[in-house]
Amino acid sequence: MERKLVHLISEEKIAATVRRLAQELDRDYQNRSPMLVGVLKGAFIFLADLVRNMKTPLYSIEFMRLSSYGSSTVSSGQAEVVIGLPEEIVRGQDVVLVEDIVDTGITTATALDYLRRYQPASLKLCALLDKPARRQVPVTIDYLGLSVPDRFIVGYGIDFNQKYRQLPAIYALEE
Ligand code: IMP
Ligand code: MG
Repeated sequence: MERKLVHLISEEKIAATVRRLAQELDRDYQNRSPMLVGVLKGAFIFLADLVRNMKTPLYSIEFMRLSSYGSSTVSSGQAEVVIGLPEEIVRGQDVVLVEDIVDTGITTATALDYLRRYQPASLKLCALLDKPARRQVPVTIDYLGLSVPDRFIVGYGIDFNQKYRQLPAIYALEE
């Protein structure tokens, strides 16, 4: 089956979106040093660009890893924390979870529940992309980049079967 890439979001549009999100975070965390927690692997490029656009000194940059879709383009309906964080580094901190894309919301909700148990001082969500048409679990996105239609997205860190993460722009993968 032949798959093709359909251009959706340009590098320039991504850069402007990331700059805007960094400004929103700088504005809201002026007198605090937040801990940014990126969700591996998809958020790695977004997080790298986001922090370089932020002026607020960060407490730290951390990563979590959750179980993914495997090799399917359809969610399995469940997520599991595969790599977590030590409770003592989360407790009492201002935490911002950084996601590539919120689709069904299952992964994000699992990550937020996991972090909330460790009693951070505050917990917010920053997501580059939102696919609201597919939501199964309600998730509040405090800092949202762009909404995308119900299509399978790749590029700018986001993969299909580990491929396409390196593409600098964002595409829909179509059959
Ligand atoms: P959710 O649990 O369904 O919200 O999915 C969250 C995770 O699934 C994201 O962090 C992505 O890694 C992956 N994902 C969701 N939608 C897409 C997509 O359109 N393309 C590639 N990966 C996706
Ligand atoms: Mg993925």
